[in-house]
Amino acid sequence: MTTTKVWRLSDGHAERQLAEAAQLLREGQLVAFPTETVYGLGADARDTTAVERIFAAKGRPSDNPLIVHIADIQQLDKLVLPYPELARQLMEKLWPGPLTIVLPVKQGAVSPLVTAGLATVGVRMPDHQAALQLIKEAGCPVAAPSANRSGRPSPTVAAHVLDDLNGKISGVVDDGPTGVGLESTVIELVDDRMIRILRPGGITPEQLRQAVPGVRIDAPPTAETAMSEAPRSPGMKYTHYAPQGALCIVRGEPEAVVAYIEKQVYEAKLLGEKTGVLTFEERESEFHSDLVLTYGSELHLEQAAQRLYAALREFDAGQVQRIWAEGCHEEGIGEALMNRLAKAAGNHIVHV
Ligand code: TXA
Ligand code: MG
Repeated sequence: MTTTKVWRLSDGHAERQLAEAAQLLREGQLVAFPTETVYGLGADARDTTAVERIFAAKGRPSDNPLIVHIADIQQLDKLVLPYPELARQLMEKLWPGPLTIVLPVKQGAVSPLVTAGLATVGVRMPDHQAALQLIKEAGCPVAAPSANRSGRPSPTVAAHVLDDLNGKISGVVDDGPTGVGLESTVIELVDDRMIRILRPGGITPEQLRQAVPGVRIDAPPTAETAMSEAPRSPGMKYTHYAPQGALCIVRGEPEAVVAYIEKQVYEAKLLGEKTGVLTFEERESEFHSDLVLTYGSELHLEQAAQRLYAALREFDAGQVQRIWAEGCHEEGIGEALMNRLAKAAGNHIVHV
């Protein structure tokens, strides 16, 4: 057990606090920090002992590579081999931001544990002031998976990090809730005109198209077919983001969805099970489960993305045994949202 330090940046000593956190990273310790997507669990990417600690703290399978976070483009040149113009354009338009680009790694630039033995490394520059400052101060590339125990929903506030990792890491930088709420989009470049999305996330296909007009996109499978296809990125093959209760996604016309879920809730209650529903606030009052949580309005899927993981954790805190979640349109951020929801549900999706 270690004592996990919490640096609350709202206390007004951000500069000193981030310097202290950066010092621990330089010493090979684990420090969790906010990004614009979710909280990450950081370590010096070059230090194998430090990176080993990430896998141990998370209980993460060692064949799942880590994303390396950088604060400026100079850092990138030390990490990867010369990259194509397409990558440069994407970085120019979308960094800092929730886009991870998989590029050929420079031999010896990071610990082999970071890449899980692959010849590539996933890199991103987070769009978050405290994260950038921390990485800059640490003076090293920072390997950081989401700061949750493996399989649990990713953390969107520092309290989630502590729920999973208190006593296992040196500290957490608390700068309030993260903005996007879902992880970055992970891409690889197929050729100089084509991008393959390995994991949908904070940057939508539309944003990629706008960044590089004329680019072709090998889109990821939808939530429905994702499970039948071979995983695109090593991390996508594991059960993820799952609450402890059994989760089922329900899709269809709103009235049919309400009717179906209400019937299921009724039956589960007869069996003495604690029930939960995750819905949009437009229909919140129509449900009678023990716990009803909302994504916010169905007109604002960005807000739904922000709230998803916290809601899944709330069901756990309430020891809910059966959960029904309303699905949403797979447009814009809705695609990444449905992707995570489907994974959390072990792809248990019902159409009504
Ligand atoms: O938003 C995010 O990406 C957050 C924040 C903390 O930056 N990080 C995150 O890391 O989600 P993690 O470890 O939970 O997910 C990393 C994903 C995994 O699916 C992994 O398999 C994939 O990126 N990945 C990393 N390196 C890769 C590589 N070289 N080739 C293919 N996939 C890679
Ligand atoms: Mg993760």
